[in-house]
Amino acid sequence: MSEDKLIEIKNLRLKYDTSSPKKNLFFSKNVNPDAIFKGQEDSYVLDDVSLDINKGEFHIFLGASGCGKSTLLNIIAGFLQKTDGSVKIEGNEITKPGRDRGVVFQNAELAIYPWLTVYKNVEFGLKLQKVKKEERKKIVDDALELVGLSEHRNKYPSELSGGMKQRVQIARSIASDSEILIMDEPFGALDAQTRKTLQDELIRIWQQTGKTILFVTHDLQEAVYLGQKISIFSAAPNAHIAKQIEVDLPYPRRAGDGKVAMLTNDVHMELNKAINAHGEGGVDKSA
Ligand SMILES: Nc1ncnc2c1ncn2[C@@H]1O[C@H](COP(=O)(O)OP(=O)(O)OP(=O)(O)O)[C@@H](O)[C@H]1O
Ligand SMILES: [Mg+2]
Repeated sequence: MSEDKLIEIKNLRLKYDTSSPKKNLFFSKNVNPDAIFKGQEDSYVLDDVSLDINKGEFHIFLGASGCGKSTLLNIIAGFLQKTDGSVKIEGNEITKPGRDRGVVFQNAELAIYPWLTVYKNVEFGLKLQKVKKEERKKIVDDALELVGLSEHRNKYPSELSGGMKQRVQIARSIASDSEILIMDEPFGALDAQTRKTLQDELIRIWQQTGKTILFVTHDLQEAVYLGQKISIFSAAPNAHIAKQIEVDLPYPRRAGDGKVAMLTNDVHMELNKAINAHGEGGVDKSA
């Protein structure tokens, strides 16, 4: 397994620079300013995060709100500089965003271009990659069909609902040929039916393409339905990976299946343990 290692994170630490409101501006829009973590000078958001992600793995991140999941994904995406430690893809330290990584942000408002139509938003990256017009059309049409936005292709983002904007992002990530998909609660804002369709499509795409998927969710059922490995964060501040759980069950998985239910229960227990262990040092006592 170790020879397939794609992403290697070692002793990663991150502290936001809150000295100036302009710092981390891009991400500040993502959070409630009142919730921004202040007042504990010696605390980090992420402290000593270490984990490996293998090529082709479907890797889920779970943890309490505010523990640093988006922060970690933003570092891997290359949008945020770490304070300390190392984050490598195929042995190379990440310093900036790259075409090898397609990102679905938690907040769609930040990610889609308000001056471009739905169609053009999805097409944009392909144009940059100089994909030929005819091929581009096919890829964009397919991606829009998949997320159920074909009829809205000529609308501008201001004319879309929150869930539709999120689907634009998802279509764009599906259309891109990036080897790594970084998805921060991609299905959080969707209705149950669309969510189920896209979960199944994502599994299909993953199985067909062998992409590596990093996926944050708050939904335990979704975690066990999709993931091969689940990393659970300890509580804020100074979060690290408290526990990893392998989901060694064949796809497609069914919620009613006994093994699925048992694993979901385990994940639930471990999540509670990780969150509550914090006051006692946040270490994994069950390993
Ligand atoms: N730009 C920023 N400047 C300062 N602090 C920030 C910034 N962005 C996030 N934080 C703080 O870092 C911590 C982790 O935030 P992050 O968004 O990574 O959490 P999360 O685990 O993704 O939470 P959620 O589940 O609610 O999305 C929080 O305390 C948050 O207030
Ligand atoms: Mg988040």
